[in-house]
Amino acid sequence: MLHNLFLLLPIVAALPARPALPELTVSQWSNIQSGFVNGAKDLGEWSFGKAHEIIDSVQDEIDAVVAHQNSGDETQETIWKKLKDDPHSFSKLTNVIDFVGGTAREILDDGKLQITFFAPNNDALTPPEHHHHHHDDDHAELTALMANPSLATVSSLLDRQPAYLLEDDHRDHHGHHGGDSDEDKKRKREIFKKIAAKVLAYHGLPKAYTASDLAQNSTLETALKAGRGGGGGLYRRIRVEKSLLPPSLKINFYARVLVSDIKAKNGYLHTINRPLLPPGSIFESLYAFPDFFSTVTSAVQGTDGRHYLDYAYDRNASKPGHPEFTGSPLATFFAPTNAAFALLPPKLKFFLFSPFGKRVLAKVLAYHYIPHSLVLSEFQYHEKHEKRSFIEAAEGMFNVADDPSFRQELEVHTGLPNSTLKLVLEKKKVLPIDSAIKTSITVNGHAVETIDVPARNGAFHVINKVLVPPHHHHDDEGNDLSAQDSWANWEQWLPAWAEQA
Ligand SMILES: *[C@@H]1O[C@H](CO)[C@@H](O)[C@H](O)[C@H]1NC(C)=O
Ligand SMILES: *[C@@H]1O[C@H](CO)[C@@H](O)[C@H](O)[C@H]1NC(C)=O
Ligand SMILES: *[C@@H]1O[C@H](CO)[C@@H](O)[C@H](O)[C@H]1NC(C)=O
Repeated sequence: MLHNLFLLLPIVAALPARPALPELTVSQWSNIQSGFVNGAKDLGEWSFGKAHEIIDSVQDEIDAVVAHQNSGDETQETIWKKLKDDPHSFSKLTNVIDFVGGTAREILDDGKLQITFFAPNNDALTPPEHHHHHHDDDHAELTALMANPSLATVSSLLDRQPAYLLEDDHRDHHGHHGGDSDEDKKRKREIFKKIAAKVLAYHGLPKAYTASDLAQNSTLETALKAGRGGGGGLYRRIRVEKSLLPPSLKINFYARVLVSDIKAKNGYLHTINRPLLPPGSIFESLYAFPDFFSTVTSAVQGTDGRHYLDYAYDRNASKPGHPEFTGSPLATFFAPTNAAFALLPPKLKFFLFSPFGKRVLAKVLAYHYIPHSLVLSEFQYHEKHEKRSFIEAAEGMFNVADDPSFRQELEVHTGLPNSTLKLVLEKKKVLPIDSAIKTSITVNGHAVETIDVPARNGAFHVINKVLVPPHHHHDDEGNDLSAQDSWANWEQWLPAWAEQA
């Protein structure tokens, strides 16, 4: 059920009595995909020449990250051969890889590498919706792909237009017309290829990980580097969700690992039941789940704060050869659910969402926001050149040899000049078996409901309480009421706090 999507996806893997994780339905699945629509729409309306410019080559990115290592067993097949040898499961995927060609195929077939690859099977690459299978012209196909850059879309395009699989010179020999139209087709094909290459790179990890390795960490870096200026120039990450009984892994909350640990000469292959999509911006991701986040997204829009959470191509500002993006390239947000807003005192809620409360609401939201930083339970990155920074880690990591446990206390600057959030990042073993690890975050003492949700421009964490900003307030007898983590007497301190924040 969608209602349970985030709240029932606890981070804890270890409790044997845990209820089964809900599966996403087809409509939820297409919801996730539509998270792309806003950003991709601009791209679709753009000329193909410009589109070329922002879809930068994925090749260097992959080369940079893959470590060459000696593999032990010379007799095993590569990941590519394993996929090729199983057309019943992977013919659609190998078609896509053949279409992308070049580096993607070479990497999957390179016996000297050690990598991990998530392979969507044929069922996964059959798109859930069938309402656009009558595109006769490539332009409509391309628009569809940009609105929904999934390997399933690429695969269905190739099913319908197998000519795309042929190299250009072969196409010419088959009696196609010359001239502009062929040039145009060729360029479109190149763009399809580049998008497919990027999405494919998001299915690869630069080291060989078994399922039990994957289950150790909450997020992992993929082979796809964030586009120009976005995401701090870091490699985009996947989120790993684990369950012990029965042992299973889910990637980005919707792709279940069906068969894991298929050992190949160059690493591990894991079959998944849905293709992975590089997530949209923080704003797009929240917007895709109105049942959870409609209050916070309207609050953000109502206070003109969308640019803090969004990051998208700016069609107006861009000039040929100089694509411009608008919004925040890197940020972390603590996203209160609708239920969190519902818990506010009714008068406060009314005030915040009235015209009189707009400025205060903007400040309260800014208190949930960490600019220029990626703060995940196991990974933090801060853009150095910016004035604001993490304040300090009170305790560092204390990793013991093969025990990944740590506890880290962190005070971070928010979107307000003088207000900080106190974070505790913690990872601990809860049972003496490998995957029984609990990773958690608390913010100002409150447990985060869903940690580490990756986004194009950073990440967000889901909280079920609106954070109370630190404030100073004395009652008439001079008793200090300010230390309370509560909204009590908000009429007396909140407007003044917002004035100074
Ligand atoms: C997994 O998390 C640990 C922290 O617990 C970190 O040191 C390590 O680098 C992470 N591994 C990967 C592959 O990201
Ligand atoms: C871009 O320009 C058009 C026309 O000038 C305008 O309507 C639109 O609001 C602008 N978009 C942005 C994001 O500035
Ligand atoms: C932030 O704190 C500093 C030091 O306490 C103070 O000088 C400054 O005025 C404060 N800024 C705001 C905007 O309150």
